[in-house]
Amino acid sequence: NVSLRELAEKLNIYIGFAAINNFWSLSDEEKYMEVARREFNILTPENQMKWDTIHPERDRYNFTPAEKHVEFAEENNMIVHGHTLVWHNQLPGWITGREWTKEELLNVLEDHIKTVVSHFKGRVKIWDVVNEAVSDSGTYRESVWYKTIGPEYIEKAFRWTKEADPDAILIYNDYSIEEINAKSNFVYNMIKELKEKGVPVDGIGFQMHIDYRGLNYDSFRRNLERFAKLGLQIYITEMDVRIPLSGSEDYYLKKQAEICAKIFDICLDNPAVKAIQFWGFTDKYSWVPGFFKGYGKALLFDENYNPKPCYYAIKEVLEKK
Ligand code: G3I
Repeated sequence: NVSLRELAEKLNIYIGFAAINNFWSLSDEEKYMEVARREFNILTPENQMKWDTIHPERDRYNFTPAEKHVEFAEENNMIVHGHTLVWHNQLPGWITGREWTKEELLNVLEDHIKTVVSHFKGRVKIWDVVNEAVSDSGTYRESVWYKTIGPEYIEKAFRWTKEADPDAILIYNDYSIEEINAKSNFVYNMIKELKEKGVPVDGIGFQMHIDYRGLNYDSFRRNLERFAKLGLQIYITEMDVRIPLSGSEDYYLKKQAEICAKIFDICLDNPAVKAIQFWGFTDKYSWVPGFFKGYGKALLFDENYNPKPCYYAIKEVLEKK
């Protein structure tokens, strides 16, 4: 029985998942790790490279949990996608609990990026350098970084990451930018300007947190094309397709499978797409039900680690390409 990673390797792309916190000490860790190592060749730590975990105090870094993710990946011949160096969320209290001057916060950010990226130099191949810096209406998000530093924090973050690991692939990552809309237009123009200034942005991450209604596929295809034309690599970074938890489960699982197949089909036809990653793999461990009340079952395997219709659907697409 061929696995997703074997099929992906033939096509020279990565297929992956976000690994939950401390997956090595779950009650069912053997099962979890067995499916992960069988099916995937790229891993993103879901939370444990974020500021609140990795940099809990100004003068203290905590690399231990992130190291465990990287070691698991290395043992199983997967690459690591680092998430994330600059974000407005999951910041430690020592950042959010006081006011900063622009100079101070620039120093803090530079220290953070250079310390974390140097620590994992050569071992984390891809970095989400900046995550979710744009609002849904298509303006810069009013984060602590933006309000204190101004938009140049983005450019600086990419340059500092590049200095610390010149071989890593540096990505801008965001949600609700899969289709052509106000937000993706803003991101497109922002990255275009960064590239024109020589800022080292190598890729765009489309998170792909979507629901059973799917996407406008024509808009998605054209959006991929325009980002690829900027010379960017394309990554689907956090895919999940949530369905209602009431109503006909068979119907929604079938819909979900169709959506996954369609997205894989479009992605695999665009050579700029280098990886497709899901935000987890078993419905047992997913952020979705806790966040979208009444929705869930958004991933490839059910709560008992059985493959779902969407698993077979993407497999079929991978086999045909
Ligand atoms: O660590 C604490 C723990 O000490 C406490 O007991 C527990 C009680 O709620 O909370 C734990 O923190 C949780 C953290 O995940 C670690 O598990 C937070 O409450 C919870 O809000 C947090 O959720 C994460 C979320 O980002 C935060 O914004 C999700 O696991 C994670 O899947 C989600 O991932 C984001 C990506 O990073 C960026 N794109 C969107 C995506 C989905 O929101």
